[in-house]
Amino acid sequence: MSRPEQVWRPEDAAARRDFWEDVHGGKDLDGVSWWQSVPGLSLGLVDATDVAPDEPVIDVGAGWSTLADHLLARGHTDVTAVDLSRTALDTVRERVGDVGRSLTLQVADVLDLDTGRRYALWHDRAVFHFLTEPDERDDYRASLERNLRPGGWFVIATFGPDGPTTCSGLPIVRYSHEELAAEFPGYTLVDTAGEDHLTPWGTNQQFTAVLLRGPQR
Ligand SMILES: C[S@@+](CC[C@H](N)C(=O)[O-])C[C@H]1O[C@@H](n2cnc3c(N)ncnc32)[C@H](O)[C@@H]1O
Repeated sequence: MSRPEQVWRPEDAAARRDFWEDVHGGKDLDGVSWWQSVPGLSLGLVDATDVAPDEPVIDVGAGWSTLADHLLARGHTDVTAVDLSRTALDTVRERVGDVGRSLTLQVADVLDLDTGRRYALWHDRAVFHFLTEPDERDDYRASLERNLRPGGWFVIATFGPDGPTTCSGLPIVRYSHEELAAEFPGYTLVDTAGEDHLTPWGTNQQFTAVLLRGPQR
């Protein structure tokens, strides 16, 4: 795991929310480096699970990702997208349109998320890697444990060892597959994947992704 450089980062929940509202405000979808019209890496790992279309799935730090659109198009009927940015989720709502109860959009901080539900699958692309402090990663693991079913599936993607050292101008932690899996003791590593994501302006970002399965407890 490579250490982040010393650059500014939001120190608390309010600063995090303001920062991410600002990132999404007034930008086009492809104005952010992580934009992709088809989240192929994520969908590939979702396909490696046995999650049924009517089981609850959550995407944390969803931003205006199209993962929800693709899951709905594949017949999923219980999808939740969580983000700190209301603006980002408003964009998703406008894009997806009225799909009734199949899609829940929740403005919340993943670090203290309590949905009151237990999801069959938790997805995170490019959120965990912002957690540069051990106590933040502890909060994330506690949130995962609160909201994921025993034996639930967990798809997570971060920048890889040769990826950028910052994302959206914030310091991040880069992970290999082994390092990422080791962040979640008790979880079983089921599959690994990776990609060189092509940003909307034509540069490459190396992503590491793993599929983990939670303990039965
Ligand atoms: C790099 S973007 C990735 C967006 C999306 N997962 C994708 O792959 O397109 C990070 C997203 O996480 C959100 N975010 C960052 N920290 C968060 C937190 N603590 N809780 C919830 N959302 C967060 C941001 O608002 C932003 O939408």
